[in-house]
Amino acid sequence: MVNYCKATLLDLFALEQLEKDCFQAEAFSRRLIKNLLINSKSAVFKAAEPTGKIIGNIIGTTKKENSTSVGRIFSLCVLGQYRKIGIASQLVKTLEEEFSSRGIKKVKLEVNTNNTGAQRFYKHCGYLKSPAVLHNYYRDGSDAHVMTKDFSRS
Ligand SMILES: CC(C)(COP(=O)(O)OP(=O)(O)OC[C@H]1O[C@@H](n2cnc3c(N)ncnc32)[C@H](O)[C@@H]1OP(=O)(O)O)[C@@H](O)C(=O)NCCC(=O)NCCS
Repeated sequence: MVNYCKATLLDLFALEQLEKDCFQAEAFSRRLIKNLLINSKSAVFKAAEPTGKIIGNIIGTTKKENSTSVGRIFSLCVLGQYRKIGIASQLVKTLEEEFSSRGIKKVKLEVNTNNTGAQRFYKHCGYLKSPAVLHNYYRDGSDAHVMTKDFSRS
């Protein structure tokens, strides 16, 4: 059984390790994760085993765009041996519910153009690819696709 709930500052070191295990160059720093955990404009959810071991997390942020609040999936990862059993789908659903409760109707995210697995995952969750590509978006110079989901249309 996997539990899905809000992460707190007590999870800081475990989340830092999870980021390192899932991403190489692009892993979030401890300082950034700490800021996201304490900022009321962001939301961090964890997927954990009954033992408390964190096996996945999702980080969302919100911002105003033309006086409308827009949500953003800032980070999502699941440990390798726990993939393809629906954990990320449930994390996305949990964050989307949190966004909805904050009155948000549109969610955006950036995904590496090389990361076709994640693009297929987000498509499965109902996200659509925008035509524009963000060139040189990542530290290693690779590009990003923007994907969006509009709740008011679904
Ligand atoms: C992308 C990621 C979060 C998916 O996590 P997950 O828990 O395996 O996803 P789910 O089990 O909920 O997948 C649901 C569906 O999405 C699709 N999907 C998920 N991973 C996929 C992949 N690598 N390739 C193709 N389709 C994929 C499938 O349709 C899957 O359904 P299925 O199991 O019936 O085939 C995970 O692979 C991961 O952490 N990757 C490394 C970090 C990353 O790339 N994060 C996203 C960019 S920020």
